[in-house]
Amino acid sequence: MSIDAAISRAQAAHDQVEQELFELLRIPSVSTQAEHDGDCRAAAEWLRAKLEEAGLHGAAVLETGGHPAVYAEWLDAPEGAPTALVYGHYDVQPPDPLELWETPPFEPTVRDGNVVARGAADDKGQLWIHIAALRAMLADGGTLPVNIKVILEGEEETGSEHLGPFVAREAERLACDVVIVSDSSMLAADKPSIVASLRGMSYCEVAVHGPAHDLHSGVFGGAVRNPAEALVHLIAACKDPATGRILIPGFYDGVIEPSEAERAAFVDIGFDDDEFRRDAGVTQTWGETGWTIYEQVGVRPTFEVNGMWSGYTQPGAKTVLPASAHAKISMRLVADQDWRRISELLEQHLRDVAAGMPGIERIDVVRLHGGQPSLVDTTHPAMQAASRALATTFGREPVYTREGGSIPVVATFAAELDAPTVLMGFGLPDDRLHSPNEKFALSQLHLGIETAIRFWHEYAAS
Ligand code: BES
Ligand code: ZN
Repeated sequence: MSIDAAISRAQAAHDQVEQELFELLRIPSVSTQAEHDGDCRAAAEWLRAKLEEAGLHGAAVLETGGHPAVYAEWLDAPEGAPTALVYGHYDVQPPDPLELWETPPFEPTVRDGNVVARGAADDKGQLWIHIAALRAMLADGGTLPVNIKVILEGEEETGSEHLGPFVAREAERLACDVVIVSDSSMLAADKPSIVASLRGMSYCEVAVHGPAHDLHSGVFGGAVRNPAEALVHLIAACKDPATGRILIPGFYDGVIEPSEAERAAFVDIGFDDDEFRRDAGVTQTWGETGWTIYEQVGVRPTFEVNGMWSGYTQPGAKTVLPASAHAKISMRLVADQDWRRISELLEQHLRDVAAGMPGIERIDVVRLHGGQPSLVDTTHPAMQAASRALATTFGREPVYTREGGSIPVVATFAAELDAPTVLMGFGLPDDRLHSPNEKFALSQLHLGIETAIRFWHEYAAS
């Protein structure tokens, strides 16, 4: 089918495409919470049916050992055409804190041209772009100019633990020339961009154990090391409060610093510091000295506390010296840091610091998940095809950006399938990913579908 015919068909289907996305958004497929296991499976089944209905072949829900993956393919492209793997994730982050949502997280609501719901942009709205585009192209006996395989997973938000081994096992089925992922953002609705790097991740949970049980803070306080305070010291020993440098020995070994020419190019990218502050809801930013906001987020690694708990946290006062204290810590990594090595370095550093603090009975460092950073070759023909497709749809040449977020499986695709990934995302910086009132602009949904249709033709022609 011609590009124009497929685009007109997609345009005629606007309402249907939106209503179906809302159906998907109503399924609370929160991957990290066991009570939603059934919802994750329901989302997978729903997508399997949609892929089949779109005209793909062999649509199946595949077991991974965790939440299932969904697979489908269309391999009837002309002789010699390339094969692309489309990846997306149907799982979402927990909606908490619930009280901050203006409308319930799993009741999609349209406000100001946006659909507001958990997963709207990350990643249900964006994976739906691809299914809708393929459906428009395959309708009425239409064909695709390239071979397509689709893999949708349900554990991205918890680190894709089972997908890595699954990709390795299924390398033959998933074999492809390139991977296409829409799970990222553009600089602005009028500033199309393609992601050229993603950060990796080491996620650890730290527990400091002191007394065998909670103690009366008067009877014992003063003579027993308080685990909550000990944890605060351990965490403080990981980052310089003045410069923002991470103090874990060896942490920066292997970090590839951008060249002066790259740094100069970052300045021209059109990143808006004021808008960043607005989106973050802060009056001033703070980060590693000597780097711009864009660089602090895109090309520098981080150490962040994601949550901490210990002792009494309910209303009112309770005098207690807690038995233990806990923190969830994520470190965003950049090429060429290795997440396993970084996890070891964190653990060693915490143990070394704790060794100088008598009264800590035990420290546990548990690795919750990790993933490697990735850098994409911007000269790859598929990147150039994405660039042309975005330029035509959005009326402006896209730029390449360095992203702070992580999609660990991108490095897995490079390692196991030897395939580069094109990160052609349609989110916007104010989509509130992982926050209350997450949204996705419906205009981005529809322009995304048009871009995807153009992309497949551009890629086939290149
Ligand atoms: N879609 C995001 C990643 C992202 C966000 C990429 C913005 C580019 C721009 C993805 O779903 C995500 O949130 N990933 C997690 C992965 C983690 C759990 C290993 C993340 O980055 O926190
Ligand atoms: Zn996410």
